[in-house]
This record gives sequence, C-alpha cells and structure tokens, in this order.
Amino acid sequence: MAEIIDGRRVAACVIEEVKIAGAALESQHDTKTGLAVIIVGDDPASHTYVGAKSRMAKECGFNSVQYTLPIETTQDELAALVMRLNGDRAIHGILVQLPLPKHLDSEPIIQSILPAKDVDGLNVVNAGKLATGDLETGLVSCTPAGAMLLVSRIHGKDLSGLNAVVIGRSNLFGKPMAQLLLHANATVTVAHSRTANLPEVCRHADILVAAVGRPEMVKADWVKRGATVIDVGINRIPAPEKGQDKTRLVGDVALHEVAEVAKAITPVPGGVGPMTIAMLMANTVKAAYRAAGAKWVAVEV
Ligand code: GUN
Repeated sequence: MAEIIDGRRVAACVIEEVKIAGAALESQHDTKTGLAVIIVGDDPASHTYVGAKSRMAKECGFNSVQYTLPIETTQDELAALVMRLNGDRAIHGILVQLPLPKHLDSEPIIQSILPAKDVDGLNVVNAGKLATGDLETGLVSCTPAGAMLLVSRIHGKDLSGLNAVVIGRSNLFGKPMAQLLLHANATVTVAHSRTANLPEVCRHADILVAAVGRPEMVKADWVKRGATVIDVGINRIPAPEKGQDKTRLVGDVALHEVAEVAKAITPVPGGVGPMTIAMLMANTVKAAYRAAGAKWVAVEV
C-alpha cells in the first residue's frame, strides 16, 4: 500500500515559514507584503479558489486585496486595473484568476503584469527564466512548484536516473512542471491528449504527474510498481451515495486502485491543492523581499 503524501502538512510548514518571513520583513524593512487577487465573473469554482487565496494571504499577515469584477468588465478596464496595481508600491504580487470569461483575452493581461509581481509565474520573462534553468531570479508557477516540493519529499532534490512522465502540456502546469523535473535531472516525457498509447507511456514513469482534468483517468495498470504518483486534477463528480445532488472531489488518478501499486501518491483533496496556495504565499513574500532589496531563501523547489 502506497504512502499517502500529506500535502496539507507540507503546505502548513511552508505557510509557517512564510509567516515568519513576512513578519521579519515588516519589522526589519518596514514592508508589509501585499497581494492583489483579481477575479472576473461568477464561476463558482474560481470564487472558491480565490476566496481561499485571499483568506490565506490575510492569515499570513499580508495586505490582501481582492478585486471581484462583474462579468461585463471590458478588456480595457481589466488592463487598466493591472496597470494601476503594477505601479502600486504596496502590492508585491498580482494574480488574475484563470480562466477569464470568454470575451476577455487572458494572454495580453497576463503578459502585462510586471514580471517582478507575476506570482503565478506566467509572464514570458518568468517562464523563460525557468526554461533556461534560472530558478533564482524569477518566479515559478505555484502548482508545479508545490508539486515539485512533494516530489522532493520522496526522492530528494536530485532525480538523476529517474523517468518522469507529465500528462498535460498547459502553460500553467504541464510545461513548467516538465522544466522543474528536467532541472532536477529527471528524464522527462510530456504526454498529452494526442499522445499514442498513453497507458504504455505512463508505465515507464518512476514519477507520474497527472494534470488532465479527467476524473480518475489514470488506472492501476497505467502505473509502474513502486512509482510516485502526483495527482494535480481537481474534478467534481456526482456522489449519490452522499444524497441527492451531492458531489465529491476526485483527482485525475483512481486513488484507491493506484495506491495498491504505487510507492507514494498524493490524494485529492489534500495533496497538491493546498500546496498551490502555500507556494503562492511563498512567491508573494519572495517578491516583497526583492522589492525591499532583501533576499529570502527559505522555501526552495
Ligand atoms: N486557475 C486555476 N489555477 C490557477 C492558478 O494557479 N493561477 C491562476 N491565475 N488561475 C488559476
């Protein structure tokens, strides 16, 4: 039976470090860490995530500002808000929750966030630094950074000789996750919806990372015995056993059957999810230290 990796516990350790770092920055440099989170429209899942981010920022002692914009918000209005926050010295991190409503073009908005305040790590400057192996001066996307911290709890920081397979090629997760694994010396395959014989590709993985958004797609016979499995999916499915109209969260991995085969596995909920928020807080305090001309090195991926 696999070790169930407790993401909540690891995330709590990161948050403790962030709180200490934030308090030290405030007392030594008179800088209160500031995070602005922007959400447009009324997608319930996005509101849940954003609410959790804003609440955690407050709990960390940050200046936490949430902009909840109506669905009718125009591209120019959103761009103007990002511009204003780029120039606001009290704000060190800016996050625009994705996906944006269909009438808005997310790419120019994301690229307009100052790289130094881009706590999502999505700006081409930060993505490019990661791609060229500079993990020191940029900001790394939060979910892959958090997933990587969980991988390093199992395998240490050097993944030499290990095969890693990432299913999913998004800018938000798959691509940066592959870069982090590569940086740690793993041999990396990025699989996706057009990959031929996906189960066979997955069976080669010592570290299997699933980020496809399909409930319980990865089955036990896709997984090499003794592999580490990182489940990034968050899918809500009907749960009639809990009552009418009830739902429950599952990942992209069939947890119970895969746990019979794997060495270690992240559960959903309670695995990668809590790490995303913790790493967002870590990125924000890191950005605030840099803005103050100081350096914080406590949480590393
Ligand atoms: N939507 C789902 N995950 C994320 C994330 O990590 N950042 C942003 N901005 N939007 C998301």
